[in-house]
Amino acid sequence: MADKALTKIVLGDRDIPTRWYNIIADLKTPPAPVLHPGTGQPIGPADLAPLFPMELIKQEVSQERWIEIPDQVRDVYRLWRPSPLFRARRLEKALGTPARIYYKYEGVSPAGSHKPNTAIAQAYYNKQEKVARISTETGAGQWGSAIALASQMFGLQCKVYMVKVSYQQKPYRRVMMETWGAQVVASPSPDTQAGKQILEKDPDSTGSLGIAISEAVEDAATRDDTKYSLGSVLNHVLMHQTVIGQEAKKQLEKFDDEADVVIGCAGGGSNFAGLAFPFAADKITGKKKKLRIIAVEPSACPSLTKGVYTYDFGDTVGMTPLVKMHTLGHGFIPAPLHAGGLRYHGMAPLVCKLYDEKVIEAVAVPQLATFQAAIEFARSEGIIPAPESAHAIRVAIDEALRCKKEGKKQAIVFNLSGHGNFDMGAYEAYLAGKLTDYEYPAEKIAEALRGIPQVKA
Ligand SMILES: Cc1ncc(COP(=O)(O)O)c(C=O)c1O
Repeated sequence: MADKALTKIVLGDRDIPTRWYNIIADLKTPPAPVLHPGTGQPIGPADLAPLFPMELIKQEVSQERWIEIPDQVRDVYRLWRPSPLFRARRLEKALGTPARIYYKYEGVSPAGSHKPNTAIAQAYYNKQEKVARISTETGAGQWGSAIALASQMFGLQCKVYMVKVSYQQKPYRRVMMETWGAQVVASPSPDTQAGKQILEKDPDSTGSLGIAISEAVEDAATRDDTKYSLGSVLNHVLMHQTVIGQEAKKQLEKFDDEADVVIGCAGGGSNFAGLAFPFAADKITGKKKKLRIIAVEPSACPSLTKGVYTYDFGDTVGMTPLVKMHTLGHGFIPAPLHAGGLRYHGMAPLVCKLYDEKVIEAVAVPQLATFQAAIEFARSEGIIPAPESAHAIRVAIDEALRCKKEGKKQAIVFNLSGHGNFDMGAYEAYLAGKLTDYEYPAEKIAEALRGIPQVKA
């Protein structure tokens, strides 16, 4: 039985995991190959070498179950890891549920989310391979903040192409990145050919994640001293996040409890995978067959629940390799949701594979219900969640209410992937009654799906 008095478990420095967990080793069939956008043939390490350091390319295709975390990476992790696992006693009471609700709080990182777990690792491997500079894009600013921090820790220069609308709306995210020494430009920018082309056609373009990716990739591809860095979707990024789930399992043991339901929000899939994959291992190997694992996405951008499972580009303009994933079409531009980190047309191929094989479930939730859950959480537990993380809270609350109805005493664990302290504009709109739901964009999705490339898999 769960300990009646404990509210949180805080592990010590020595409990930081020493290895990342690679779920590929436990899959029954190998993941679908990544294809060259021109030839349609599987790509090799040489194709990725201009963009990523070789060690990360090796991790991307590794079959090893465990990959050792370098000491220098653990040294930086030590600044905030292990992150606490809380028992949401006050929320349980407010809901009157017999369920036990736990949340793993990743907002304790300096950047305020789970993103530094991979940013630190990526900056380290770049430094090892004598890369001087990193280029990346950022939508809402969370990923840009994480990579700016990581670059600073390893003495790398960093250039962030920030979607222009966020650059204007979230000036403090920009200042945060600049405080850590990064150069931040509004995208589209005059600094790249891609940016110039867009600006020539439309000088007032507010930008998009797709354009920002094109700029950051072009930056890295055209400079010898620079590599590109991506904050989600790729196998190695998901793997770096598994420190979350490994710690959470240990912390649950200290609560003398075991998870019945594991929940995470999913944009590109990295924080969800980070919490869920170490638990999914027990399900795949038959140790915990009844465990339920739920990915939560916005109903305005429902790639898992409404997308097609096929090959598509990772970016909007079609520059990246083709990956097999649940996609709404690379041309799909989601509504301007406040959960900017969940506005992605696709999903990590490994998350999609587990969904296809029914190891995990997926649910889509609308924006207003998500903010209602965020407020309920903030008013009971205190922490103001990131709008992305609030999607996981919505479903955790729904599951707790189901337990109440069914009289079930289950343990629900969710990932609180970040705090919402830079998202006051969104909370202000919600509290003023100005926030709206977005209809499921059936027509826009149908149109974008027609643009998916035909690939013989
Ligand atoms: C706090 C937070 N949670 C979740 C996400 C979604 O990304 P992912 O699905 O890769 O975890 C983001 C992305 O920006 C984020 O900042």
